[in-house]
Amino acid sequence: MSHQIGGMSVHLKNQLERILAVPLRTPVDVSNPADTGLVLPFLKWAGGKRWLMPLATELRGSGSGLYIEPFLGSGAMFFGLHPARALLSDCNVELIETYKAIADDWQAVHAHLRRHDRLHSKAHYYSVRDQRPRNAATRAARFIYLNRTCWNGLYRVNRQGVFNTPIGTKTRAILATDDFEAVANLLRRAHLVAGDFETQIDAANEGDLIFADPPYTVRHQYNGFVKYNEQLFSWADQERLCAALARAKDRGANVICTNADHWSIRELYERDFKIFPLERYSSIAGAGGTRGRYAEVVIIG
Ligand SMILES: C[S@@+](CC[C@H](N)C(=O)[O-])C[C@H]1O[C@@H](n2cnc3c(N)ncnc32)[C@H](O)[C@@H]1O
Repeated sequence: MSHQIGGMSVHLKNQLERILAVPLRTPVDVSNPADTGLVLPFLKWAGGKRWLMPLATELRGSGSGLYIEPFLGSGAMFFGLHPARALLSDCNVELIETYKAIADDWQAVHAHLRRHDRLHSKAHYYSVRDQRPRNAATRAARFIYLNRTCWNGLYRVNRQGVFNTPIGTKTRAILATDDFEAVANLLRRAHLVAGDFETQIDAANEGDLIFADPPYTVRHQYNGFVKYNEQLFSWADQERLCAALARAKDRGANVICTNADHWSIRELYERDFKIFPLERYSSIAGAGGTRGRYAEVVIIG
């Protein structure tokens, strides 16, 4: 990462452009993670980037700076990349507490999760949904259990911030692909913070790598992403994000950002960044008819 052009190291930039020149449409094969050395995200998350894990694994080892992921969600990029040092954050406090609990004591979280797996039923689901455990490991196991058994893996809270998704069709809280020890080992290299993205991006310095995957909102037009996301992430947030990423790039940080392929996003980023179109298939969507293929972009700088 020694030579810098416009904020992005030549090595990383060439590598990214080579990878993005080939369509990344095939989701990574997750049937046997042990074969590929993959540590899989253990949560199902709206907008999750499992399908971008091939990009992460190809980039593995290519930078020595701090890895910053300010919209962590299920952390697919982080778990694919295995960075030596990371700053991970999300505004979802329960999510960040879950990661911290696993890093601190994954065995305790796993033991509570196994208990939910044994006891799973409609009554157990709604009883756990109503509980507010005090202990960190119990809270984390509740979060993972609800994520795995709720309707479509959709994290939804009411106005009071209370999780209110109904029960779904999946019945297992423990999955064959689980490896919480490997997850904990990676998380122990990271500093985890609950909060707004801007503070973390402003912490980026020369040679650091930022991967920003915000909720997708676009200007003026309903495109299927917007209905749910617009209350969470406004167009003003989208502009604030672009400005923070441009400042980080000017300080010499490397930036990768994903977003909807929409004229307003292109217009926002085209001055300072390079834009690569991609396509993916989404299995999580809000209202009927929005499930399917979405055009997305990877923005680099
Ligand atoms: C598209 S998801 C990220 C998905 C993630 N890349 C993955 O692989 O699962 C966007 C995330 O941004 C978070 N978020 C929304 N507004 C935020 C803000 N202002 N600051 C930080 N995080 C925010 C949401 O909680 C959500 O987890």
